[in-house]
Amino acid sequence: MKKSYFRPVIDAMAGYVPGEQPKIDKLIKVNTNENPYPPAPGVFDTLHAFAANKLRLYPQPTADIARETIATLHGVDIDNVIAANGSDDTLNIAIRSFCGPGLPLACFNPSYSLYPVLAQMQEAPIIRINLAEGFRMPSDAAEQAAPANLLIITRPNAPTGNAFPMAEVRALIENFDGVVLVDEAYADFSDDNCMDLVREYDNLIVSRTMSKSYSLAGIRFGYAVACPELIEGMMKVKDSYNVDMLTQYIVRAALSDQEYLDKTRSIILATRARMEKELAKLGFTYVPSQTNFLFAAPPDNDGKRFFDVLRENAILVRYFPGEVTGRYVRISVGSDAEIDKLLEVAARLYG
Ligand SMILES: Cc1ncc(COP(=O)(O)O)c(C=O)c1O
Repeated sequence: MKKSYFRPVIDAMAGYVPGEQPKIDKLIKVNTNENPYPPAPGVFDTLHAFAANKLRLYPQPTADIARETIATLHGVDIDNVIAANGSDDTLNIAIRSFCGPGLPLACFNPSYSLYPVLAQMQEAPIIRINLAEGFRMPSDAAEQAAPANLLIITRPNAPTGNAFPMAEVRALIENFDGVVLVDEAYADFSDDNCMDLVREYDNLIVSRTMSKSYSLAGIRFGYAVACPELIEGMMKVKDSYNVDMLTQYIVRAALSDQEYLDKTRSIILATRARMEKELAKLGFTYVPSQTNFLFAAPPDNDGKRFFDVLRENAILVRYFPGEVTGRYVRISVGSDAEIDKLLEVAARLYG
């Protein structure tokens, strides 16, 4: 092609790089925070029962089958809920709704690297608020975020795994004259969350995903809860049929089994605690985690070397280059057997 037909901003941008999804058999894959356990048994019943002729029809466009279940779960009205094709879709809808030229996005750094990519596509200025020592929110976060129209707070944060103190998040929501989206992709693994604050603040959106705690990364489902006015506006921006029919039924089956969620979550939390303890014994430092992953630095602070050695041993974790993040690797909480193998390699290297 002699000339580019793309908008200049698309030509100039690098694009988002998702975590590696390799096609290698027998790899221990603890790099993209998937759940090592299967989804709730009801999901499989739904799949089997799904009549072939349902696939002929368009899905219900606002995903009401799923939204009704979500509304009941959180004690809100269906008008408080928007459903999406994974929380990446929710984020895209929010950024397309609230950001553009002259309408900046503010987000923290390090955090989920998709946010700036989505903002770039909207030609929206990006305000990156660098986290302070220990990956804490800086005390002047509100002043830094002030010019933005949308502020994303990732709580618990990725890739660091810590959750900013609730009082600080509340203060930010109160002092920010724009929309605040709290990305709670990992909230089911944390001690507390912001869902109840939606009733108090009409500039707050809380975003959740079924990819992690519900073990459903493959179907792509996320949702957001906010006041009806924000939901109504975002509904105009979403794709007409952004959640397929099969997904809507699977979501209902999975959300209806909170007992199963509790069971798998407690196994994951126990494995996480064991990882923290065993890695600390080997001289690792780590960020105390409120998620299903651990951001851990080996004793020599050489995250890349540990990543490479794990990879040679068919164990895939995530490495984020950079002066601070490069000291660490991010390890998803896998099954106990998977984590045992990872700990064996760590013990050989650093023990
Ligand atoms: C902070 C954060 N938000 C959103 C997502 C995207 O999740 P989903 O699978 O629902 O698109 C991730 C996935 O890793 C994440 O870490």
